[in-house]
Amino acid sequence: MVGAWIVQPRSPPGALIDTVIFTQGKGGVTGVWNSQGQQAAYKISSVKVHEGSVSFKVSYGTFGNGVWRGKFSTQDELRITFVGEDASGPATILQRVSPAELAEVQAEVPKNLITHKIQLPALHDLPSNGLSLTPPMGWNSWNKFAPTIDDEAVRGIADALVSSGLRDAGYIYVNIDDGWQGRRDQEGVLHPNSKFPDMKALADYVHSKGLKLGIYNSPGPVSCGGYVGSHGYETQDATTFARWGIDFLKYDWCSAGSIYKTQPEMQALYQKMGAALQATGRPIVYSLCQYGLFDVGTWGRKVGGNLWRSSEDVADKWASMSSNGFENHGNGDYAAPGGWNDPDMLEIGNGGMTVQEYRTHMTLWSMLAAPLILGNDIRHMSSDIKEILLNREVIAIDQDSLGRQGRRVTRKGSSEVWVKPLADGSTAVALFNRGGKDTEISVVWSDIGFKGAQKTRDLWQHADLGERTHGYGTFVPAHGSVLLRTTASGEPGNR
Ligand code: GLA
Repeated sequence: MVGAWIVQPRSPPGALIDTVIFTQGKGGVTGVWNSQGQQAAYKISSVKVHEGSVSFKVSYGTFGNGVWRGKFSTQDELRITFVGEDASGPATILQRVSPAELAEVQAEVPKNLITHKIQLPALHDLPSNGLSLTPPMGWNSWNKFAPTIDDEAVRGIADALVSSGLRDAGYIYVNIDDGWQGRRDQEGVLHPNSKFPDMKALADYVHSKGLKLGIYNSPGPVSCGGYVGSHGYETQDATTFARWGIDFLKYDWCSAGSIYKTQPEMQALYQKMGAALQATGRPIVYSLCQYGLFDVGTWGRKVGGNLWRSSEDVADKWASMSSNGFENHGNGDYAAPGGWNDPDMLEIGNGGMTVQEYRTHMTLWSMLAAPLILGNDIRHMSSDIKEILLNREVIAIDQDSLGRQGRRVTRKGSSEVWVKPLADGSTAVALFNRGGKDTEISVVWSDIGFKGAQKTRDLWQHADLGERTHGYGTFVPAHGSVLLRTTASGEPGNR
């Protein structure tokens, strides 16, 4: 136990690493947890070691105390979890390091992180940047690559967006998520880490393919993955992004949450970057990632945002995807051309759900007018996955120019019917079976506000179902969905 440890393996270039030092005192073992992002040293007490199990208390100052518990997996590796957190979540790993390795890690801590409150601008509404008149479509590196993303993979993804036909179906943003950041130089200019040798050249390459390049950072001093954030350098970073040719910024709250606790502060910090992006004169889509906190739909647009997260991160599991999409999708009243609720990126094709479930993921996101940001390795896709992602009739529901978010109109047990009005006067009607058994779902037109017969088309089967007088019913597989486009026949007022 006694000695120096680093928190999580220090593999990816650019990441900042917390260190933990345990020392033997007269009264037993004590320690210090050095948070590099916060530039804070938290005291460790009540250290208990018993038969390979460990627990200790950390005093986080004004944030109170926390207890960590875990086990040695080897003599030099300790797996611990924060008590109170979901114990099934990933453990935090402490790795023992030699004094020389510790010195090396400590030398990597940037001196120019700003970890105190900065002066925030007075709140005012920013003008619209005129972008994202339909929900943005593209690809993001996080779900598949996490911090291992590099220049070569981004180029490969750009090539695959073109060769697979995804670009021509509308997926045009190639977004680098967390893990590209290096260090600031003495002038404060942020440079990419060694995985991204030349960001401007990468942007030129992506642009040459008829695509757009996105990037990621945090309004805090460090990002969620432990990389240098934009706190206090907003204007400078926006200028750097524009100079590189960046077209999209995802701005992820992360460590800003340990400095700023109130809604006005959060709004002001997002406004600061929104204004800085607009001041560059380059059209840059602005994606707010703060997990739906503080009713973001009410102010996301005011800070220049084009999309704002409505929930926690989506995982590649039915339970997670359905809770984000069916429940935590944000208030549809705030979604409209230029600004969208974002239930997070797609997991379609990552392997944790069935084809039926992935089809439901796509149906649901399209009904929600959600951003369609792919999260799979599109260089290698099965034909089933391609068919889901490239279904233009379904994409057209998401991208409909009216920009209305669909809503649930009936719910019986695990069967749900949702509707989304469309620009040409027709309506998208989705039947969802959230249960584990195949079931019949019927919709009666009058129950969902239709006044007469409807010409009906099934968008997954690509089949006209003819004119339906009173409604439509069909079997829907377990966790499956059916997506219809209905057009009132006869009187235009029939919808
Ligand atoms: C947060 C975000 C994710 C991803 C990671 C990167 O968890 O919600 O989408 O950007 O950070 O560290």
